[in-house]
Amino acid sequence: MKRRLIILSAIAASFALAQSSYMLQAATADSNATPAIPVLQIDAGKVTGQVSPTLYGLMTEEINYSYEGGLYGELIRNRSFMANPLWPIYWDVVGNPTVALDKNQPLNPTLDVSLKVDASTASEKAPKGIANRGYWGIPVRPDTTYRASFFAKSDNFHGPLTVALVSTNGETIFASAKVPSISSDWQKYTVTLKTKNVPISKNNVLEIYTTTPGTIWFQQVSLFPPTFDNQPNGFRPDIMELLAAMHPKFLRFPGGNYLEGNTIQERFDWKKTIGPVEDRPGHKSPWGYWSTDGMGLLEFLEWCQDLHMQPVLAVYAGYSLDGQHIAPGPELEPYVQSALEEIEYVTGNTSMKWGAERAKDGHPTPFPLRYIEVGNEDYNRSSEYDGRFAQFYDAIKAKYPKLQVIATAPVTSRKPDLLDEHFYRSQEDMEANAFQYDKHTRTGPKIFVGEWATRVGSPTPNMAGALGDAAWMTGLERNSDLIVMASYAPLFVNVSQLTGQDRSMQWTTDLIGYDALTSYGSPSYYAQVMFSAMHGNEILATDSQNIPTREWQPRAFSGQTPPPQQIRQIFFDATRDSQSRTIYLKVVNEAGTAQKVNVQITDASTIQPDGEAVVLQANSPEDTNSIEQPRNIVPHTEEMHSLSANFTREFPPYSVTVLKLITK
Ligand code: AHR
Repeated sequence: MKRRLIILSAIAASFALAQSSYMLQAATADSNATPAIPVLQIDAGKVTGQVSPTLYGLMTEEINYSYEGGLYGELIRNRSFMANPLWPIYWDVVGNPTVALDKNQPLNPTLDVSLKVDASTASEKAPKGIANRGYWGIPVRPDTTYRASFFAKSDNFHGPLTVALVSTNGETIFASAKVPSISSDWQKYTVTLKTKNVPISKNNVLEIYTTTPGTIWFQQVSLFPPTFDNQPNGFRPDIMELLAAMHPKFLRFPGGNYLEGNTIQERFDWKKTIGPVEDRPGHKSPWGYWSTDGMGLLEFLEWCQDLHMQPVLAVYAGYSLDGQHIAPGPELEPYVQSALEEIEYVTGNTSMKWGAERAKDGHPTPFPLRYIEVGNEDYNRSSEYDGRFAQFYDAIKAKYPKLQVIATAPVTSRKPDLLDEHFYRSQEDMEANAFQYDKHTRTGPKIFVGEWATRVGSPTPNMAGALGDAAWMTGLERNSDLIVMASYAPLFVNVSQLTGQDRSMQWTTDLIGYDALTSYGSPSYYAQVMFSAMHGNEILATDSQNIPTREWQPRAFSGQTPPPQQIRQIFFDATRDSQSRTIYLKVVNEAGTAQKVNVQITDASTIQPDGEAVVLQANSPEDTNSIEQPRNIVPHTEEMHSLSANFTREFPPYSVTVLKLITK
């Protein structure tokens, strides 16, 4: 440990030296002289630490319609009519029936309201019913089978009901099915809707209507397209595929602010998110819209299972965003017990109460769990976190000594296993801080960078964002003996309606965008894919000379304007796979000019002449991907030849490159 510390501080010192000596040269040299070529040095004989096997993962919460209208496959918006107590928002009528929310005909104590549809004047010529617009449209694809279901009852109507996928203008019926009869008690009805060779479209609605008179009550109206792995209550396949390409090692859930809620009542109350979906009341997300909690605790765990990610389970720690909080002591105890029960639901065997509950919910096998996070961002809002953390920590460690407990703010009462740190910064700020962990103490808790992003570009980051991210990630990777896990945030944004009252985006600069039909990865997404998919397990010592810099004026803080800074324009790190002996050299050129760089590798056995470069590049920092141009900026692979322990390569402007150098 001591040796590693010395090496790391030596690297940090030599970086500082390299930077200041460059500035000295720049100040004294003839202004017409050609600047010395940048040199990147890798000491293959010095392993400064091991790359954490869990370094790259995902952070997620219900924001920007991440699940509702996002990953969660449900296509009907406000399926439970619980989103607004006064009116069935997002629902329209077919014909002109009288509709109203009815508290007198609840489906069950949880979904304690239903939609009453008075279609007493319906006829063959005048069908009457309801229609749902989905989340900014309902996607229709050719030769696709959809599963529609709803609960209904009627005293004076026996059927049939027609269920149909129809274009919004009513001109095209893509698929339809009939429910022949409706009972006088609540019952669930399910039909399949199969499209033929129809064009792909999203301006569609789901209609349920009758041509015979009657009054019908509806609840839990649902429509699912084919899901990832065909799982019921499952996920959107295109988004799952984008995530799988990131090779994520963990999933931090359920937040973020979404864990805490605006009020204690609106927290992520896990017990209300399990069991049959029609028994889940749903709740308001702090991001301003309704969540049905169709994406509940078990679905998060299944998501982890599907993508082979470890769950990083955040438990509610007695603090909500409007400032309501529970003082440490007896009043907090029920919340601590709830967290212990939550852990039992995840990990307990079926002889245990909550393990049995999980089995009843369809998953008898316990899930692996190593990390528990206590709360979210408790550093700036509540003075009592130290005490609350201690109470959770002690209870968790007493029952589950092997669990690693993560604090979301520095604490002194206990030594957390990990500390979760969050950074949302500009490109320059990210780059200026790319070395912040080089100097970080190795004696405290390990670090989980549980949320970070270069916030440039909207709705999704542009190339400037990707450059800031990649520069920052070289620092994460170089210090991944300390940084056990790191996750970009937010992960998702529905890009259907970026502004206005009912907007689909609450937070700009999100890694992956989508609408009802398609999805895309931002340049930052591709930078993540490159970093996550291509690294070794050993961190190699590095040094550099002649790195060009540019001036940056940091923002004024508390009325004080800090002095301008010189920030580097080339960032890099090197790791090696100890099995294959491949060295992964990552180089970020944030400059608008190509950079000819000399790479020097010492103490390695022979470097094979042939290697490979994976390059992400743009013509301008503003270049980006979008729903219309999803693959404007994507990585490409180039062969490399004539490599040796000392070679020169030109790195294009605005680029992120991974060089794969094979040693023998
Ligand atoms: O990622 C968006 C929000 O930023 C998270 O919910 C919160 O933890 C942070 O402040």
